[in-house]
Amino acid sequence: MKPYTIDFDLLTGICKSGKVQPVQRRVSQMKMQFADPEAAQKAIDSGDPVLYEFSTLLNDEKKGTLAFGSTIIYPGKIGDEYYMTKGHFHTILDSAEVYYCLSGKGFMMMETPEGDVDLQEVHPGEALYVPGRWAHRSINHGTEPFVMLFVYPGDSGHDYGTIETKGYRKLVVERDGKPVMIDNPKW
Ligand code: F6R
Ligand code: ZN
Repeated sequence: MKPYTIDFDLLTGICKSGKVQPVQRRVSQMKMQFADPEAAQKAIDSGDPVLYEFSTLLNDEKKGTLAFGSTIIYPGKIGDEYYMTKGHFHTILDSAEVYYCLSGKGFMMMETPEGDVDLQEVHPGEALYVPGRWAHRSINHGTEPFVMLFVYPGDSGHDYGTIETKGYRKLVVERDGKPVMIDNPKW
């Protein structure tokens, strides 16, 4: 592989040259991950909005490489639960990941297979280190797009299945205008 450069907008996280097309995830792709499937169905029926999109500027999945790119989580709620990413463990569970907040603000919800839970709020200019073994989900509780740069080992892989079937132990919902972490009633 040869060295290369690629444009990357520090505010929006978008690759404007169009060399990389973002992957978009809509409510219909995550209906069962929200605590209120009826609210999710309502959102689907009224246009199925994009919850988030991410661009992986490099990922050739080989050992020794670094995958990197950006995630944009849009502001909004499904019922009283904020827009969020699906979340995943890395298939090679020990693989860590670094995030750097470019704009907006939000949370990273993390948990281990053993049941440890950690919620970190990140703002522009802050880096977040997600150690290996911690599943991670980004949540936008703000009013602006929440944009983060990410870097992780290219061979990490993504295990979505565990989260899809069991969900996270905790949820972040809005109560009296403020975000609070509650137990996931489905866990
Ligand atoms: C890669 C990583 C991020 C996410 C992205 C979308 O390991 O953590 O690039 O892939 O934020 O979230 P998911 O993958 O959970 O849909
Ligand atoms: Zn990851």
